[in-house]
Amino acid sequence: MKIAVPVERFPGEGRVAATPETVKKFKSLGFEVVVETGAGLKSRIVDADFQAAGATLAATQGEALGDADVVLMVRRPTAADCATMKKGALVIAMLDPHGHMDEIRAIADAGVSAFSMEFMPRITRAQVMDVLSSQANLAGYQAVIEAANAFDRAFPMMMTAAGTVPAARVFVMGAGVAGLQAIATARRLGAVVTATDVRPAAKEQVESLGAKFVAVEDDEFKQAETAAGYAKPMSAEYQAKQAALVAEHIKKQDVVITTALIPGRPAPKLVSAAMVASMKPGSVLVDLAVERGGNVEGAVMDEVVEIGGVKIVGTPNLAGRIATSASSLYAKNLYAFLETMVDKASKTLAPKWDDELVAATLVTKDGAIVHPALNS
Ligand code: NAI
Repeated sequence: MKIAVPVERFPGEGRVAATPETVKKFKSLGFEVVVETGAGLKSRIVDADFQAAGATLAATQGEALGDADVVLMVRRPTAADCATMKKGALVIAMLDPHGHMDEIRAIADAGVSAFSMEFMPRITRAQVMDVLSSQANLAGYQAVIEAANAFDRAFPMMMTAAGTVPAARVFVMGAGVAGLQAIATARRLGAVVTATDVRPAAKEQVESLGAKFVAVEDDEFKQAETAAGYAKPMSAEYQAKQAALVAEHIKKQDVVITTALIPGRPAPKLVSAAMVASMKPGSVLVDLAVERGGNVEGAVMDEVVEIGGVKIVGTPNLAGRIATSASSLYAKNLYAFLETMVDKASKTLAPKWDDELVAATLVTKDGAIVHPALNS
């Protein structure tokens, strides 16, 4: 059983899919682990650390992947990456398949069995494999750090001999995993925090973190959660009512952090150009949904746009900006999943194709795209 860990070639990606800690664990499961030289550098893991954990190094991608049974990655492999893998190899990564079906087709054509960790069901057994949570939690934290960095005032109230500095007002839109961590981080920095979400369950969670909940709480709101705990798309009527409430609220905010997503769909547009224009110069918006089309009108991926003195931060992949922490958690998510595919007695790779977790995450197999959500 051989695992390969290549250098991530996706632009701007600093994370790596294994750490010395997971390499050691894979070794004790009976795997041989090959790491491409330099794979961990952007996460502050040097080759020698991987070697000390029992991995061998490969000088090139081809050498690392060529005869691997399992390839662990952070981002979706390209057709060229897949061409270096053997047929039937298992590839485990965040494939981000929605909107990238040509690339998924190329992965299928390469004959590898690719798993998309984002599809992991949110059930108790799979919590330890939940990459959306592990990475969104860090992204929510980092969003506040980016906001504080772009903001030219202090977050906490400061009472000094020279006078009082007021606390910053932070509004978090979307109180899922990322949003809740953004609330907690902004509170720790001393901001006055409010938050909104369309899921009623979010209200209590927001309040338990010491923030105030702001939302139109009508009948539609009370049913706005799917059985899986995700947001439903809201009606145009609800969106208009919510937008009016938000428009009034946003005017008084210094920092807005948006994290609203609906799985498999473009991000809902929550902050209009008029709302941005209503904010005071020096205010900051951080759009965590920028890779899904953005929650903020005018947000540009990979740029900080300034409109009338208001900054809109469109930095993608915020978890990747704290790559060392993000890699450490992501690598553990992957270990927990792959461990379920190993027959421990015989120390062989034995994926159970009908297992709930395998079936939910498997995207390509034997040349075909097999995931039901991608075949419609
Ligand atoms: P997500 O990343 O898909 O969305 C982020 C947030 O945006 C969600 O809270 C969603 O309700 C909100 N949103 C969507 N449209 C909106 C709109 N128009 N206005 C305002 N907010 C909007 O969701 P995430 O963070 O991955 O998790 C969603 C839920 O799943 C949370 O309740 C979380 O606690 C739960 N969860 C459950 C887990 C489990 O193992 N049972 C693990 C992780 C999360």
